[in-house]
Amino acid sequence: MRVGVLTGGGDCPGLNAVIRAVVRKGVKEHGFEFVGFRDGWKGPLEGITMPLGIAECRGILPRGGTILGSSRTNPFKVDDGVQRIKDNLAVEGVDALVAIGGEDTLGVATKLADLGVNVVGVPKTIDNDLSGTDFTFGFDTAVNIATEAIDRLHTTAESHHRVLVVEVMGRHAGWIALHSGIAGGASIVLIPEQPFDIDEVCALVKKRFESSFAPILVVSEGAVPKDGSGMTLQSGEVDAFGHVRLGGIGDRLAKEIEQRTGAESRAVVLGHVQRGGTPTAFDRWLATRFGLGAIGAVADGDFGVMVALRGKDIVRVPLIEGTGELKVVSPEEYAEAQVFFG
Ligand code: F6P
Repeated sequence: MRVGVLTGGGDCPGLNAVIRAVVRKGVKEHGFEFVGFRDGWKGPLEGITMPLGIAECRGILPRGGTILGSSRTNPFKVDDGVQRIKDNLAVEGVDALVAIGGEDTLGVATKLADLGVNVVGVPKTIDNDLSGTDFTFGFDTAVNIATEAIDRLHTTAESHHRVLVVEVMGRHAGWIALHSGIAGGASIVLIPEQPFDIDEVCALVKKRFESSFAPILVVSEGAVPKDGSGMTLQSGEVDAFGHVRLGGIGDRLAKEIEQRTGAESRAVVLGHVQRGGTPTAFDRWLATRFGLGAIGAVADGDFGVMVALRGKDIVRVPLIEGTGELKVVSPEEYAEAQVFFG
């Protein structure tokens, strides 16, 4: 069997570990051949490939990014996109595709599976917002990077009696903010699921200063103020999947807090630092097991599924279970962080 592999969407520490596991097990246990498709769905759409075998996967386990490249190409937004993909898979003699990606990449995989393409999905996102799996790889690395940043910001904030606002990734879900905020001892955590009241935020900032400690706010990039606050936060630009480009909530908040409380405030945007570099041991372990599970599904001819972590087991679930609805932070989970606010 000849198997194509692609990685789509925002990159994520652990992608290379998945690719390595898929190829190693595929070659050694099943005698499969592989071809790498470059840059997400752009590869099969435009027929852009690279050789992929055990040699190409040597040394990549601890490396961030993806040797296959990535993009946010949406073939359903391109004329004849689906037919072009089918034609290019036929030209390459590809019998099955392993698609490693988040809601958008696996959303495309879900639709292609319905249209008869043999696809197995591997869920990836630092945001951890895919349903059907307890965790996605990349999340643990991002949380560790954010937590280390928060630890460092505590000491400089204390020294200068400043407010420090840390903006972390998380477009629709506040998992990175919640986990790093709890782990780093944040004074306030703001997430997309819970629109915030700027007056309440400022009251908590003042309360924190009363304890002689400086406030650290951890804010998801997708956090929004409650209606009527007059704070605008989006650029208006959208990508091929219709997502508005976010960013700027950290700066806006720091300015607003400084104006309203008189306390000197600074914003730190962690941005793509959270996505780059070497994966944690947990992410390497999870990504490797996802890769082994995915090639197992291909070998069984079990298509239209994605691998998922349930407890400590790797299971297969229908692709739609991962992409149908985003996994967001519940009010109960948010309440655990609120105990430490102020
Ligand atoms: O989906 C993963 C993610 O890292 C989000 O947290 C973030 O909003 C987005 O990607 C940023 O994407 P880009 O690579 O286009 O800047």
